[in-house]
Amino acid sequence: MNEQDTPTTSQQASSAQVSSAIDTKLTFADVYKNSIDNPSHFWAEQAKRIYWHKEPEQILDDSNLPFTQWFVGGETNLCYNCVDRHLEDLAEQDAFIWLSSEINQELMETYPNVEQAFSDLGNNVEFYTDYTKRRLTYNDLYKEVNYFADVLQRHGIGKGDRVIIYMPMILEAAYAMLACTRIGAIHSVVFGGFAAHNLAIRMDDAEAKMLITVDAGLRGGKVINYKNLVNQGVEQAIHKPNHVLVVSRGILPFEAQPIDVDYATERRISCQANAIVDPVWLESNEPSYLLYTSGTTGTPKGVQRDTGGHAVALTTSIDYIYDGKAGETFWTISDIGWAAGHSYTIYAPLLAGMSSVMYEGLPHRPNPGIWWRIVEANKVNILFTAPTGVRMLKKQDETWMTRYDVSSIKSFFLAGEPLDDSTANWLSKHLGVPILDHYWQTESGWPILCHTPKFDHKPHKKGSPGYPMYGYNAHIINEETGEPCAAGEKGLLAISAPLPPGCLTTVWQNDKRFVSSYFNLFNGKEYSTSDYAVADEDGYFYILGRTDDVINVAGHRIGTQEIEEAISTHPEMIECAVVGIHDELKGELPIAFCVIKDHSLTESTESRFRLEQQVIGAVVKSLGGIARPAAVYFPQALPKTRSGKILRRAIRALAENKPTGDMSTLDNPPAIDAVKQSMKDY
Ligand code: PRX
Repeated sequence: MNEQDTPTTSQQASSAQVSSAIDTKLTFADVYKNSIDNPSHFWAEQAKRIYWHKEPEQILDDSNLPFTQWFVGGETNLCYNCVDRHLEDLAEQDAFIWLSSEINQELMETYPNVEQAFSDLGNNVEFYTDYTKRRLTYNDLYKEVNYFADVLQRHGIGKGDRVIIYMPMILEAAYAMLACTRIGAIHSVVFGGFAAHNLAIRMDDAEAKMLITVDAGLRGGKVINYKNLVNQGVEQAIHKPNHVLVVSRGILPFEAQPIDVDYATERRISCQANAIVDPVWLESNEPSYLLYTSGTTGTPKGVQRDTGGHAVALTTSIDYIYDGKAGETFWTISDIGWAAGHSYTIYAPLLAGMSSVMYEGLPHRPNPGIWWRIVEANKVNILFTAPTGVRMLKKQDETWMTRYDVSSIKSFFLAGEPLDDSTANWLSKHLGVPILDHYWQTESGWPILCHTPKFDHKPHKKGSPGYPMYGYNAHIINEETGEPCAAGEKGLLAISAPLPPGCLTTVWQNDKRFVSSYFNLFNGKEYSTSDYAVADEDGYFYILGRTDDVINVAGHRIGTQEIEEAISTHPEMIECAVVGIHDELKGELPIAFCVIKDHSLTESTESRFRLEQQVIGAVVKSLGGIARPAAVYFPQALPKTRSGKILRRAIRALAENKPTGDMSTLDNPPAIDAVKQSMKDY
């Protein structure tokens, strides 16, 4: 069976639901000025977009910068705003349209238990030749989230408890996130591509009481044994969870551990009891979730998000930045393990009463037309993804794009990594809609720079992700002096405190690290994005790369130090440096330079190959395939400064065959030749 075009059965939401609190005839300049000059007034208006169980007593408390509190004393619940609030007007509208191109009719023979597993989980799916689909109304979502919350509560999870969610792109992951926020538990989603070690670090840092996972995931047809990785992670963690809640998809049989709990069995109990769980009202500044992200050290930071500010910021962004409306369909093609998936696959579209597409699958499987077919069949209005996915499609036969009716698309947003002209042009040529680069970070949770299609729609400038969004007093400053940079002058992209609602409020259990990582410049008054940028005369910004050792692989942020730490576990290793080099498809790729104890091991091709595989294996085992070095070289030394700091910038230049720049601080000049030689040997 091949799915016909099915117009959505969605009813339009009443506009009051996501009412724009400010007259939209205003220009963007007016909106921006108001947000910066009078933040309390601006955000008090935006706060009307969500439901407050108790109205805030104070809109902004900036008496203890850089710690900022928004909507102080207000009480709300994120899940209530995403789900319950829509039951009156949108009960029969799709909340989620879930699609998996990893599971289809033909695969049913390979995985004979999958169909039964869907049914055991109450998942009413439709099988097609190229994908499986489930439409889930707001009413359905309400029921499932309540069952999930009931299961959590029956297993001892309550307000403030941390729950790790390590799952692929399936609806149960969305239920789990929403169920946590319903009962005030703090979720921390861990990207499914990460390995056991990553999981263990997060379990320990968050001191998670429960871990939620699946038997297995599928990626490009390859089975990923989540359960096994979880078993290893639990084994490695010092702080072990009380329970591992397993959503069995019927893909891979597994041996249950004593702490395992079967979700389908527990769901049945909750379903039979018609369980309804009252939302727990949280003070606006209480945490909703943690999302770990890479920084300059080997230990990821637990970015902590609040509740009220997060809900207000995301709801406002759907209107003011994405120009989305209740009843429209939003598709963010990102994993829920990343900030984009958190904000724009799960929370923001639901907060705004939209239908959100959740997709498990690759851009080019079963064929490079899959995205456009999904757009056509589901009348997707707004798309958002990272440029890497588009670059993958750009390599394929162009006619895939023209086979489907994609006229429902209003705009296509890109973020996470630099958008090159050729990718932007390719999309624009085929879609004929605005292709809008925008810039943000895990820490901000919503766009900092954008070309918004809303308001007077300032003209688009190629190569720029836009201009600062309302609420962000963003500017470019000289790294050393803190003085503002003139137009055309490179500097650090900084944001003056207070940060607007929705941005990180601290690093989990580590206020000190919050200050030292982000506010160590200029008396704690400037938030450092750790990105270099330049602005033009018209106030458009251009991103020039990170100031730290974080690299960006296919829109995924990875700390080179995390990779170096994994490599250092190899017994032969004396020291190593990992740098990111430019890659046409993925933006950047990690390359490792390793100094080993017995250099003679690199003399024969076989033993060098063995070493190389061991180094790659150590990285994949520790961090997952996403961090796999594209090449491993074995120089006899690494260039260092007199104070012993490895000159990664020089190594990167050498790896990219570019000039190394000023080498006057170099302590060991022969190391430059050693690095060059190691690449020649390869
Ligand atoms: O270096 C910037 C780059 O990605 C970093 C943030 O990555 P992450 O925390 O994973 O959040 C992604 C949220 C979409 C930034 O510090 N980056 C993000 N967007 C862009 C970008 N670089 C260039 N252009 C962009 N549009």
